Amino acid sequence: MYNYGLCSTTLSFIVILGRTGYECRTRIETPPEQDVKNRSFNGDTLITVDNLEKRYGKVHALRGLSLHVEKASIHGLIGPNGAGKSTTIKILSTLVRPDSGLVSLNGIPLKEGARIRDIIGVVPEFPGLEKTRSAREELEFHAKLYGLKEAGARIRILLRDLGLEDVADRPTAGYSTGMKKRTGMALALLHDPEIILLDEPMSGLDPAIRKQFRDIILKLKEKGKTILVSDHDLFTVEEICDRVTIIENGITVAEDSIKALNGLSGNACLELEMREPAAAGQLMEVLSALNYVTNISKRSKGLLVRVRKPESDFPSLIRTASANAELLGVRPVKQSLEEIFLNITEEMKNV
Ligand SMILES: Nc1ncnc2c1ncn2[C@@H]1O[C@H](COP(=O)(O)OP(=O)(O)O)[C@@H](O)[C@H]1O
Ligand SMILES: [Mg+2]
Repeated sequence: MYNYGLCSTTLSFIVILGRTGYECRTRIETPPEQDVKNRSFNGDTLITVDNLEKRYGKVHALRGLSLHVEKASIHGLIGPNGAGKSTTIKILSTLVRPDSGLVSLNGIPLKEGARIRDIIGVVPEFPGLEKTRSAREELEFHAKLYGLKEAGARIRILLRDLGLEDVADRPTAGYSTGMKKRTGMALALLHDPEIILLDEPMSGLDPAIRKQFRDIILKLKEKGKTILVSDHDLFTVEEICDRVTIIENGITVAEDSIKALNGLSGNACLELEMREPAAAGQLMEVLSALNYVTNISKRSKGLLVRVRKPESDFPSLIRTASANAELLGVRPVKQSLEEIFLNITEEMKNV
């Protein structure tokens, strides 16, 4: 059996920010949306969201968010807590009404709620299960609601595929977080929807169950389903996503394939090792005035500097840096996705 431990590996985005804790300066010239829109985007768009706005009273939750999800792909909706992920998913699920913006799923506009609900399956962050019912009873109840005839065989398959057979006849009140999430998934898949929307499916799951969940999501893609999965941590879903949309404060800061994001900074970072790392602040002042420097952060031995075009910018950067500080070494650095993610969100704050 699995160990259904809670929250052991839920690495929050905030923790990542806290962990890095670098002083960081960034600059971007083009507004991020123009910069990133539709990069390496080839497939059919099954979910289109443009200029989505939503206010809850004084809270401006979505501020012109955009999102484009390709057919038969796994797409990550990534952002820190409060970024607007759940609001976006609730709008796509027709549970929350947006103030304005363009939203369509498989060409169906949001206002045609019933048609949309036919083609989507939604797994909320906390599936609302009736405590006294078992998973099987929940599925039978929902099958009736959907008007699904002869759902018995489908329910048996779902219980088996989601590893719920052993607990299928126990009340859900006694389920672990993982079991509840898998029951939520079974409910979402009951009517065999084309699009599956998952709100933080991995949160609260231990690594073994996460792996199981990832496999389930990958299998859905194999079957040609289109999956939108939100998470506050890019790394939780990075392996399974074809593309991701990174959001912050209700707006899209990047939308691209994982491959392209990985190559986004590529080797465009140079680590400058200084004889006197204590003087890094002064060098940071000088280098941040260079127009091709897009990001500088302090490291234990000196600075990490990101530039636009490594071929032409690195030599000039090294000349300027050596003229202003004694360097012990320079080293091109490939940034991790985590760092790229942090840079993008940091850049957004400085716009
Ligand atoms: N029903 C609500 N009423 C008021 N504010 C809300 C409501 N739902 C969400 N918010 C606010 O909207 C913002 C986005 O929330 P949410 O979409 O839940 O973000 P995320 O899922 O990325 O954590 C947050 O500031 C949150 O506090
Ligand atoms: Mg949420």
